[in-house]
Amino acid sequence: MNILSELPPSVGIGLKPQHYAELLDPVSASTRSSDTRPAAKPGWVEVHPQNYFCDGGPPHRWLGEIAQHYPLSFHSVGLSLGTASGVDRGELGRLAALCDRYAPASVSDHLSWSGSASNRYPDLLPVSYTNLALDHFVTQVSVVQDRLGRKMLIENPSRYLAFAGDEMGEVDFLHLLCERAGCGILFDINNVEVSATNLGFDPWAFVDSVDPALVGEIHLAGHAHEDHPEGALLIDDHGSPVSPLTWALFERFVARSGPKPVLIEWDTDVPEYPILMDEVHKAQSIMNAAAGCADAETSYAVA
Ligand SMILES: [Fe+2]
Repeated sequence: MNILSELPPSVGIGLKPQHYAELLDPVSASTRSSDTRPAAKPGWVEVHPQNYFCDGGPPHRWLGEIAQHYPLSFHSVGLSLGTASGVDRGELGRLAALCDRYAPASVSDHLSWSGSASNRYPDLLPVSYTNLALDHFVTQVSVVQDRLGRKMLIENPSRYLAFAGDEMGEVDFLHLLCERAGCGILFDINNVEVSATNLGFDPWAFVDSVDPALVGEIHLAGHAHEDHPEGALLIDDHGSPVSPLTWALFERFVARSGPKPVLIEWDTDVPEYPILMDEVHKAQSIMNAAAGCADAETSYAVA
């Protein structure tokens, strides 16, 4: 289990039903949309495995076809690694079965919790960065990795509060988790902007402190902005283009890390395919420039 991710170091998109046809026929999709640029497709696609915890039907017919054309990333939202009673073994069993069926190139979940032994919540809730919490995460990530027989990536959260009892910073927590559990980091750079704005820390210093060798995938997304008397509040809604600051932080990180698998994460108010591909082009161009590649198309998947 030495490889953090087998995704290609190119730009992927989240799999949405409204894009199934374009993903499987990007040339004619480009013609239909009057887009004059070369038809293009993402390098890979990311799915939320919980959407496929059923035995058959249309979701699996589509996913089976998509899987023949694109590497898959399974981005779980349901393991609830931070729950005190431990990972839900039923949830883990369903994830393992889906991994056996589709052999994804990457599996990930979050540095968060979503329920107790008897309740489930539709949120990725924050954890305190204490040694006790670190011990717990090391154990739970190891349980998942042992069951799946592979390494996984853990995503840094978007945060709206910080705990008074924190004993270390978020990056130190993630680095220690990787060191002790052998997992990697899914580095969500929009989450850095959201958390930095809401909690008042320096996003540049945060990005500069992350060890690129531990990062197996990067997320880029948009967020909502609210102005309040106390200051700006950013909400991690994945419903708009990537913000200028997140693009700049991404450029800074990939200048140090080199090419990585990058996801354009757009989950609400999902745009038409050409708009999403504009974001894919932009991310790939920044990454190519960081790698010293003058032609942004040379490492880009063209249909
Ligand atoms: Fe993310």
